[in-house]
Amino acid sequence: MKQISDKLFIAPQLTAADIRVARANGIAAIINNRPDDEETGQPSASANRRTAEAAGLGYTHIPVVPGQINKDHVINFQLALKRADGPVLAHCKTGTRSATLHAIGEVLEGRMARSDILPLGQRLGLDLSGAVKWLDANQARRESTVPDVKAFFDNRTFSVQYVVSDPVTKQCAIIDPVLDFDEKSGATATINADRILGYIESKGLTVEWILDTHPHADHFSAARYLKDKTGAPTAIGEKVVEVQKLWKGFYNWPDFPADGSQWDKRFAEGERFKVGTIDAKVLFSPGHTLASITYVIGDAAFVHDTLFMPDSGTARADFPGGSAARLWDSIQQILALPDATRIFVGHDYQPEGRAPQWESTVAEEKAENTHMSKCRTKDEFVAVRERRDATLPMPKLILHALQVNMNGGRLPAPEANGKRYLKFPLDVLEGAAWD
Ligand SMILES: [Fe+2]
Repeated sequence: MKQISDKLFIAPQLTAADIRVARANGIAAIINNRPDDEETGQPSASANRRTAEAAGLGYTHIPVVPGQINKDHVINFQLALKRADGPVLAHCKTGTRSATLHAIGEVLEGRMARSDILPLGQRLGLDLSGAVKWLDANQARRESTVPDVKAFFDNRTFSVQYVVSDPVTKQCAIIDPVLDFDEKSGATATINADRILGYIESKGLTVEWILDTHPHADHFSAARYLKDKTGAPTAIGEKVVEVQKLWKGFYNWPDFPADGSQWDKRFAEGERFKVGTIDAKVLFSPGHTLASITYVIGDAAFVHDTLFMPDSGTARADFPGGSAARLWDSIQQILALPDATRIFVGHDYQPEGRAPQWESTVAEEKAENTHMSKCRTKDEFVAVRERRDATLPMPKLILHALQVNMNGGRLPAPEANGKRYLKFPLDVLEGAAWD
């Protein structure tokens, strides 16, 4: 058993006895990268799975024929590693395929330089030249995929909405669109959404996705309106179901279907999709809400309410289901993206009256973010964040917005007189600060 990192060990073919020894040594999960029946006497994946599971270990079989690695193998290896509760022991016949999958994944995720692959192989006593060859053959196209990003700032709610498009195919995704609402008059409008549609038409774009990062507490989502206009599917993170369960209680809606069926697609952590030809993936980023996700589309990360611009720090984490500790973890995951990753924030509150800004980079956020560069540990961050959150009143539209946004951006159905009405729970948000 050879150690690659705190989280990953590599070994040749494992026997049942090896698996029990691994358990005794603190291994939490096994990844098997070997197809069954490569040679006689080889323990089958199903037999080893039974041994592993009986010993309380996770077991993932990602069989790889030598020389035939594809991107799904790499992604699934990374996911299995990420999902394990503790150290993982990966094996094939010699360990070469497992170490190769790991090295490719680390380079693609920006955590390892390509030039470090062969030295890693030397340290492990394995030939990892296959990883370098694979990257030479497969990485060039990926690196040329940089989406066009157009931002739309909403002065009323300080929200930033985005259209992210593939310059080659002209397909696009809309992220976090705002449906206008004036709480004083009760008027709704589609000024922001129509601006977005105007841009899409002027550029000849086709809408492939209408994406929300989380159920917003400060504005109505225009997802439903834009779906009706474009026919494109709506999507959000799958944990939205937990937000629905929480808020259906607050609104006393026992019959509300808290199953996420209000969106066409509910993304799981790590799930991949495309905007045109550009690879996109979903990071689960809870903390601000328990359903928040980040969309990483090509070299652009749409982080919404996690990090703000470097001079503005981080998002509050005190809404029902929020957590400063989970926000810290989510931000660490975002800051682990390659330094050159473009960061697009979901709000900008224009500190000291400066003009609105919405784009930074991972490197800038690491160096300059007022919260993250000052707080060196999670405990420090949680203390700072919770002290600040305790002073913040609830957003003025939280009770208006959640009943619309937990329903996929649908306004309440009209009553018999043709008018729509919102519902207001009193005294449900306990402990909220007053203005
Ligand atoms: Fe938010």
